[in-house]
Amino acid sequence: MTPDALADIHAACFPARPWSAEELAALASETGAVLESTSIGFALARVTLDEAELLTIAVLPEAQGRGTGRSLLAALAARLTDKNVAQLFLEVAEDNAPARALYAQAGFEEVGRRRGYYARPQSAAVDALVLRRRLRAP
Ligand SMILES: CC(C)(COP(=O)(O)OP(=O)(O)OC[C@H]1O[C@@H](n2cnc3c(N)ncnc32)[C@H](O)[C@@H]1OP(=O)(O)O)[C@@H](O)C(=O)NCCC(=O)NCCS
Repeated sequence: MTPDALADIHAACFPARPWSAEELAALASETGAVLESTSIGFALARVTLDEAELLTIAVLPEAQGRGTGRSLLAALAARLTDKNVAQLFLEVAEDNAPARALYAQAGFEEVGRRRGYYARPQSAAVDALVLRRRLRAP
């Protein structure tokens, strides 16, 4: 998938804070980057030693709700497990119900909170929840 295609999906999902094709190309080519993608969505993680962070996951709005997010996350987790990664972390806005439901279903648990992490133009800032999923026993 090209950086332009990734950027188009990202912009459709995060109109208030889109990442450019250049930013996405740079992130995807960093040491430790793991990208899982289809024509309608992608998930990008970064591995550091035996931990990984999910940098973003996005499915085109018109294609959401059909299992793509779950599949991308499962495929990503399988690749990270193959790389012997022990834990996968991510941050999610407390008010992002679809993403929180996806992560809960995928076995993530809350391990932290960053207060007021996400600014909101029309309302008070929203906390980020830090979630973790164990991929293998410590
Ligand atoms: C979060 C996101 C990636 C989910 O992708 P998706 O393809 O729509 O998700 P799936 O169809 O695979 O759904 C998997 C599970 O997620 C949850 N879920 C997905 N959409 C949901 C919604 N609108 N409301 C509540 N739960 C939802 C459900 O638990 C669902 O399981 P179920 O179908 O058995 O009920 C997608 O909504 C998205 O791109 N959102 C915008 C970007 C974003 O917020 N990314 C996460 C940033 S932390």
